Parts: sequence; structure tokens; C-alpha cells
Amino acid sequence: MTQPAPLDPQEFRKALGTFATGVTIITTRAPDGSQVGLTANSFNSVSLNPPLVLWSLANNSLSLEAFQKAENWAVHVLAADQEPLSTRFAKRGIDKFAGIDIEQGLGEVPLLRGCNARFQCRTAFQYEGGDHVIFVGEVLAFDRAENAPLVFHSGRYAHAAHKGGNQPRNPALAGSFNEDFLGYLLGRSHFQFFSQIRKALAEENLSDEEFYLLSTLTLKRIMSADELDNGMSSVLGEHSDAAAGALIRRGLARSVGGTTDAEGPAFQLTNEGSALALRLISAAKAVESQLLERLAPGEAAMLKTLLHRLLGAIDPGSGLLWQTPDAKAAVPTGA
Ligand SMILES: Cc1cc2nc3c(=O)[nH]c(=O)nc-3n(C[C@H](O)[C@H](O)[C@H](O)COP(=O)(O)O)c2cc1C
Repeated sequence: MTQPAPLDPQEFRKALGTFATGVTIITTRAPDGSQVGLTANSFNSVSLNPPLVLWSLANNSLSLEAFQKAENWAVHVLAADQEPLSTRFAKRGIDKFAGIDIEQGLGEVPLLRGCNARFQCRTAFQYEGGDHVIFVGEVLAFDRAENAPLVFHSGRYAHAAHKGGNQPRNPALAGSFNEDFLGYLLGRSHFQFFSQIRKALAEENLSDEEFYLLSTLTLKRIMSADELDNGMSSVLGEHSDAAAGALIRRGLARSVGGTTDAEGPAFQLTNEGSALALRLISAAKAVESQLLERLAPGEAAMLKTLLHRLLGAIDPGSGLLWQTPDAKAAVPTGA
């Protein structure tokens, strides 16, 4: 019989990483009373009756002895916004609990807050598992919350969303050019989204372009004519001069000297312009919140991640507007 070829450890690790998992932090209390915990994605359910779960801990983990001696431990299933906590508990040799607000669980095990689920366990079995120890725990108590989960896939944190939400609104159009075309989806979404914001703009007698410029000037406090022409051309098109002129005529912006001699004139909001911009931005944020509330937990964050990535691919120079002249010179625009 031929022997199987030895496994390539790196490829093996990568292949295991294709299995998307949630992320947990597992905590316990050491015999000396210190709090112990680490990030683990080897967690899994074992049995409903009796209620059993398992996870595995590397033999070289600094936490090993504490878990081997502990009667109780707790598994915390992390929510999407707990990535910083996951990163912290994956580090070695630091005080992972510093500044963290904890509760006391069974056996004085430290319990973290804001998690999607917590399982308080008593060690049922420990098994040797190669370079890991497998802990099986009997679940004595649990609680849960409905938030988007933190996901780990191929060595990176990821978003998760339920499938099935993207059914075509009209089954007759399934897979048709219109229903599936990115331009249609983006364009129609933008149009519908902005038609709601436009109500607030109309009350202030402001065009879309004037609003784009006004809101940009709240962040880019002084914008040179050069930056206006280049940095905002994809948004304002040939309307940039008209938009700047309209804001100046209405006393919402003023023309000032440029940041460098070579750049010529520049624009800045007046106090009145800043106040109006803040009013309109909060109205726009309210429209955004109402809209995003209709998505499932986590989907809003995922949508924004994907749109940022799309924008980075389709308009790599868009970030240049926010950079200093020195940084700008160093970064290739890709254009
Ligand atoms: C997403 C993720 C999942 C992990 N899963 C495990 C795991 O299941 N078992 C394990 O022993 N280490 C796992 N680790 C690594 C430990 O968190 C890391 O080695 C940690 O520093 C161990 O801390 P300690 O040495 O203080 O015990 C994981 C790390 C990350 C980022």
C-alpha cells in the first residue's frame, strides 16, 4: 500500500481556514485567583441533551494550566463590533482584562458583556488532541442576544448576512439585465436615497451639488480651487464653479487665499455655512438611520464595507482630496 504524501502544514492551515467560524473568548479563573482568557474559534456544540460544548486549546498556550485545573469556564460568542476584544484576547503576555467591565459568573469565572451568547460550563472531559487539549464542558447556564456575529474566515475577520434577502422584487425579471445590473442597483438606490434627502435641501433652496460641496467643506476646512476641480470632479462634474459661486453669493462660503501660493484661491465655510451644513448632515443621517434599520443586524456594516471597497476600486483617487500635498505626491493615483 502506498503511503500518503506528508501534508504541507501551511496548505493544511489554509484549507482549515476555509471553514468559516464564529469567534469566541473563553475565560476562567486560575487557582491563584487571576483572570484568564483567550480568543478561540475551535468552539463547537456537541450535544443538546445533556448540553455539551467543546473547544481546543494549544499545548503552548500560557492559559493551559489554568484551564486544566479549572472546574468552571465560560464561552463568549462575540458580536460583530467586538473585533477589538478578540484581537486583545489573542495576544500573549498582556493583562487582557485591564479596564474591562466584567461580571462574576459561576465559580467566579469572569464574564464579558455585550456578547451574542455566553455559555457557563463545568469541565466534563479533557482529551489530548495532538498539539491541543480538547475541553468538553457541560453547559450550566447561558444567555443570548440578537446581534450580528463576528466571523473568522481564511485568517481574517468577516461579516455574515443571511441569504435569501436578495430575491428579485419581480420574479419575472429574475436574472434580467435590469434587476441584476450593478449600475441599476447603485443608480436606483442613490436616486431613491437622495430623493428623501432632497426634501431637506429644497427647504434650504440648495442643489445636490451645493450640498455635496457644503458637506465636504465641513471636513476639508479649506479647499483650493485646484482641489475643487480635481478632487471633486467625479461628484460635481462641470458644476463645481457654479456650486462654489452659489455658496459664496449666499454667504455660506467665502473665498480665501490658497494653502500654497501655487494653488491660488481657496474656499472656506462661513459660520452660517457651517451651521446649515450641520443641520443638513443630521437630516441626511436621520434618513440613513431610517433606511438602515430596515436591514438585518450586521447588513448595514457589510453594505458599507463593500461599497467602500467598490469605491476604492472604481475611484482610487477619491481619497486624495483628504491628504496633505506631501502625502499626495507620494501616493500613486492609479489614474
Ligand atoms: C480568531 C482566532 C481564533 C483562535 N482560536 C484558537 C483556538 O481555538 N485555540 C487556541 O489555542 N488558540 C486560538 N487562537 C490563538 C490564541 O487566541 C492566542 O494564541 C492567544 O495568544 C493565547 O493566549 P495565551 O497564550 O495567553 O493563552 C485564536 C486566535 C484567533 C485570532
